[in-house]
Amino acid sequence: MQQTRGRFSSRIGFVLAAAGSAVGLGNIWGFPTQAASNGGAAFLLVYLALAFCLAYPVLMTELVIGRYARGNPITALTAVSSNALSRALAPIIGGFGILVASLILSFYCIVGGWMMSHFLAELTCLLGFADTAAWLETFSISRSLFFTTVFMLLTIRIISQGVESGIERWSTRLMPLLLAMLVLLTLYVLTMDGAMEGLRVYLIPDFSRALSPSLIIKALGSAFFSLSLGVGTMLIYGSYIDDRESLPRLGTQVTIIDISIAVLAGFLILPAMYVALHNGVEIFAANGALISEDTLIFTVLPALFDKIGLAGGVVGTFFFLLMSIAALTSSISMLEVPVATAVEKSSMQRKLASYAVGGLILLISITIIMNFEQLFGATIAFTTRYSQPLLGMLICIYVAWVWHRGEVLQQLQKGSPDIETSAFWRIWPGYIKYVCPLVILIIFVQSF
Ligand code: TRP
Repeated sequence: MQQTRGRFSSRIGFVLAAAGSAVGLGNIWGFPTQAASNGGAAFLLVYLALAFCLAYPVLMTELVIGRYARGNPITALTAVSSNALSRALAPIIGGFGILVASLILSFYCIVGGWMMSHFLAELTCLLGFADTAAWLETFSISRSLFFTTVFMLLTIRIISQGVESGIERWSTRLMPLLLAMLVLLTLYVLTMDGAMEGLRVYLIPDFSRALSPSLIIKALGSAFFSLSLGVGTMLIYGSYIDDRESLPRLGTQVTIIDISIAVLAGFLILPAMYVALHNGVEIFAANGALISEDTLIFTVLPALFDKIGLAGGVVGTFFFLLMSIAALTSSISMLEVPVATAVEKSSMQRKLASYAVGGLILLISITIIMNFEQLFGATIAFTTRYSQPLLGMLICIYVAWVWHRGEVLQQLQKGSPDIETSAFWRIWPGYIKYVCPLVILIIFVQSF
């Protein structure tokens, strides 16, 4: 029996939810810090090229297949399968995607928890509770366990409320807030001494660093991570879109919002680093390179906020609140993948499924926290650097090679009756058939 499926109630609801998924720590933290250490504007250009030429077409495959099948990744890949082999592989590929989504959530909750604890650290410090602030600011297992659990519970709560009153409602509330805070913080930081040096580093390209194979796979990984691709998030969000909407248009809007926010975050983070340097905070490691990504945000920025006194405390509070919100609108989209699958495959209630699946993933997070050195970095590399592009490539193959072309085109026509005259119509089908899988494969093989 098909249960009644959730739907996004409006176009803007979908756009904000999908943009909420896409805009996250990857944009506000990952992208700017990678750009900072990899040639500034040169990295930006490589990233933009990969995002538009590879990530966007793959996003479209997920939206098309999701809306057609109106189901989880396993159901969807099975529904478009045209022969015995593709039908046999569909549950394996879909299942692997769901597993990867869950693993991404397991480390994402840890980082989201850090953001929340730093938010409270800035706040308690402002209010004069120095001891509490010190505990909140210092890395410890107890702190990670506590805040990972809190972050996961928030994620579970939103997901248990369903598509329209959970995902859509919270995304439409939080996304405008996030954008407003990002713009205000950026404008403020740009007025400070030292900011211009950061702008120069961001905007003047150093091509000697941007074109190495290891860098390109990193940029590809971050573009795929940033658009939440490969693991079924966008496929499931696509399955909640109304047939009257134009998929290419929605996909373009989400891509543009996602990329713009990453670029905008660069205007905040790089200048902030150089403002910190100007204030005597060290931002270069002994070998002359910028200090590594996690240290950057969890030591440099708090040190900066500390240095500039009361205003710093206020800015710091808002900054980590911004990060926490960005993380939350993304984490819900990860949990939605296994939860929607559980609800559709068994007759479990959504609420029960949310707590059961979320609880299991929390156990994985706890395992990672307890074996941090061995598991944290490895989980990130396995899921984002290798699995996501590989899964993206497989979804392309399903849409372009396995599925009947007529049905793909028919699905695209829904909501966009004039699409036959567009460039998208002429280019995309062939593009995802030959170019995308091949380029992803080449980048992938090169990285070994
Ligand atoms: N795109 C989000 C970010 O940039 C993270 C994210 C949300 C994600 N859902 C995902 C990443 C699914 C991979 C897969 O932070």
